[in-house]
Amino acid sequence: MKLMNPSQKLTLEDAARKACQHAYAPYSNFPVGAAVLTNRGQIITGCNVENASLGLSCCAERVAVFNAVSQGQRQIVALAIYTPTETLTMPCGACRQVLQEFASEAVIISLCQGDQRLEVSLPDLLPKAFSVQRPLEGRS
Ligand code: THU
Repeated sequence: MKLMNPSQKLTLEDAARKACQHAYAPYSNFPVGAAVLTNRGQIITGCNVENASLGLSCCAERVAVFNAVSQGQRQIVALAIYTPTETLTMPCGACRQVLQEFASEAVIISLCQGDQRLEVSLPDLLPKAFSVQRPLEGRS
């Protein structure tokens, strides 16, 4: 896990809270905000974006990661997720695998409206993660 300075952490958390205000969640009524901190010190946000064809909905974490990558930032050192709930929300399985690609050693901070908060590393959330290996030659 890379170290973040305390002011970066506060800014990241604040950005996740603010991003939640942009959530488009008319079907689940479950708004989520996320913010990532890149190795260059930039903070990039995302919110969940749902669709009438429900399977097309995208989680806040993935929107934030894809936003970062689309801005040329592929190394994420921390991610904060915020839901206006009493208890914490943790990234879903699909988001954990996407985080493995660009945030494999990141600190994941979960925040809610209640007092709870949790800080874990991605390897804690996704142990023994899948990643592509080069196949052995001569075999298929
Ligand atoms: N959601 C997220 O944005 N992040 C999570 O970690 C869990 C779920 C969204 C997807 C959907 O828009 C809504 O929350 C309800 O599942």
